[in-house]
Amino acid sequence: MALWLATLAAAGMLAGCSHRKQTPALEYLPDMAYSPAVKAQNEDPMHPGQSAMRPPVPGTVPRGFTPYRYAAQDSLLAQRDLVNPLPRTADVLGRGQRVFMTYCVVCHGPKGDGQGYIVPKFPMPPSLLSPKVSGWADGRIYHVITRGQNLMPNYASQILPEDRWAVIHYVRVLERAANPRPEDLKAAGIPDTAAAPAAAPAAAPDTTKGKP
Ligand code: HEC
Repeated sequence: MALWLATLAAAGMLAGCSHRKQTPALEYLPDMAYSPAVKAQNEDPMHPGQSAMRPPVPGTVPRGFTPYRYAAQDSLLAQRDLVNPLPRTADVLGRGQRVFMTYCVVCHGPKGDGQGYIVPKFPMPPSLLSPKVSGWADGRIYHVITRGQNLMPNYASQILPEDRWAVIHYVRVLERAANPRPEDLKAAGIPDTAAAPAAAPAAAPDTTKGKP
C-alpha cells in the first residue's frame, strides 16, 4: 500500500515536470487563478447582452445631492427664488476667478465681453457686462450655468453648485471692473485727472441704470 502511494506521488511529481514551461501541466486549486469575477466592461454571463457594470437605478442620486428643481424654461422662477449663499470674500472671489478662467473664459473672454479664444469659430456670446446681465439677480445666472441657454451648454455636471455661485460673484467683479465707481479708481490709486478721459464712456452705464 505504502509502495503504491509512493509510486503515485512520484508519478504526480513527474507529471508536473512538463517540457512546456509556460503552462503548468497540473493546476492545483485553479479557482483562485480563474475567479468567477466579471470585469466591469465585459458581458455579464448572468445577464446576456448587458455589461457587468450597470447604470444606477433611475432616480439614483449621490449622497448629499440636492436636485435642481427648475426646468430650463423656469429662468424667472430661479431668478425670483434663488439667493447666492456665498459671501463676497476674497477666498470666494479667488475661487470664482479660477472657475471662470477654467470654464467660461474660452467663450466669454477674460473680461467677460464675449471675446473668448473660441470666437469666431464659435458664435460670439453676448457680453456679460451688459445692463441686461448686470440687472439680473444671481439666481438667473445660476440658472443659465445649470441649465444652459440656447447655444450655451449647461455646466451642471462640471461645476459644483458652490463653484457656480462663486463664479457669479466673479462675473459681478468683471461688471464692476468695466464700470468702475469713483471710489474704485481712488482705491486703485488712479488720480482724478487720469480718470477724466475715461469718464465719458464710464458715464454711459449711468444713463442705462435707471432704464431696466
Ligand atoms: C461654449 C461657449 C460658452 C461657455 C464655455 C460659456 N458660455 Fe455663457 N454663453 C454662451 C453663449 C453662446 C451664450 C448666448 C446664449 C443665447 O444665445 O442665449 C451665453 C450666454 C450666457 C449668459 C446669458 C447672457 C445673456 O445676455 O443672455 C450668461 C449669464 C452666461 N453665458 C454665463 C456663463 C458663465 C458664468 C460661464 C462659465 C461657467 C459660461 N457662460 C460659459 C457661450 C458659452
